[in-house]
Amino acid sequence: MLEGHRVLLGVSGGIASYKSCYLARALAERGALVTTVLTRGAAEFVGSATFEALTHQPVLRSIWEPGHALDHVRLAQESELIVVAPATAHLIARAAQGLADDLLTTILLAATVPVLLAPAMNDAMFAHPATQANLAALRSRGISLVGPDLGSLAEGPSEQPGRMSEPDVILAHITRLLAGRGPLASARVVITSGPTREAIDPIRFLSNRSSGKMGHRLAEVAWERGAEVTLVSGPSALPPPVGVRVERVETTQELEEVVRRELPDADVLIMAAAPADYRPADSQVEKRPKGAGEWSLALEPTSDILSSTRSARKEGSVIVGFALETGDAVTKGQAKLEQKGLDFIVINDALEPGAGFDEDTNRVTILAKNGERWDLPLQSKREVAAAILDRVERYHVT
Ligand code: CTP
Repeated sequence: MLEGHRVLLGVSGGIASYKSCYLARALAERGALVTTVLTRGAAEFVGSATFEALTHQPVLRSIWEPGHALDHVRLAQESELIVVAPATAHLIARAAQGLADDLLTTILLAATVPVLLAPAMNDAMFAHPATQANLAALRSRGISLVGPDLGSLAEGPSEQPGRMSEPDVILAHITRLLAGRGPLASARVVITSGPTREAIDPIRFLSNRSSGKMGHRLAEVAWERGAEVTLVSGPSALPPPVGVRVERVETTQELEEVVRRELPDADVLIMAAAPADYRPADSQVEKRPKGAGEWSLALEPTSDILSSTRSARKEGSVIVGFALETGDAVTKGQAKLEQKGLDFIVINDALEPGAGFDEDTNRVTILAKNGERWDLPLQSKREVAAAILDRVERYHVT
């Protein structure tokens, strides 16, 4: 997703600079061309060789290196984004004042591209009015911030912000700053995810094997592409994706209510959830003991959410459904595309190895309302999410 994007990674002198190594590696893995600039303090914690090996790009430390006198101007102009992680209290103070007393601050002063800072410092230093005023000044100049988070600091546990955001969180923000200006920028995207649960009694429930992985990956990628994303999630152990508003639901009926409420403002709805199609006709108020002998459950159908909420759709919105089948998948998927009034349907076969619930990969066929068909190879669910959103972007005209 970051293939060929030029990112300047500034690292200032905090212990969190060890986490910047992971960030550098993740950026390089996503295809970004990363030039690292270390401050003198950073070089006390981590060496140039580490970043050079991780990024395969040069690492710069001083404005005075022979032959590099104009590096600050060149780097400020060539980069598409400057990220400083960690940004120490001192670096933040220097940037806020417009000082240019080393290579990194000089680049920041010469830069006209987006800048993202990931502050990291002792919690008292972060709370200090001087730091807060410096951050407010930087924010007012359009500089973006990620974190700091709560949690343990080098000096011990803390309940106050100070700790640098994790590399994957910073990476998501970088991706949104670089890739978030396409057709999905500011679009309102609603994604449903995971299973639902229907209570049999207060202890037992009916559910299915959906893990929520596909919906979570879709929410992640849609947010990185600039969308305002609401993830309506059934029970799931997965962490919430960065930047995404998460609405938790339990039953198919709750899911239906949230979808109906969100739809009138949604530019895109992706129904990746696997809602239970049946629920017990009589949910017991008390736990049924096993001594009660044989037990037959009467089930009643839940409503089909895509069909029952159809009239709440915003005009021109793009609606994507999923179909998990066991055999004859494309024919069944085509029928669902038409019955449910969808723009796209993403079909997969639960019996195929590497595809289906709880896997990290999937092999899908996408059908469009206009008759187009794409048979995609087995790939990660993140790649499948990107492929689905590529097609949604073609339909979604801002
Ligand atoms: N879906 C829905 N409401 C339900 C069940 C499913 O809106 N109560 C949505 C799913 O989120 C998915 C699509 O409908 O996007 C197809 O779901 P699937 O379970 O494959 O099909 P069903 O409509 O449930 O049909 P069947 O179980 O007969 O295959």
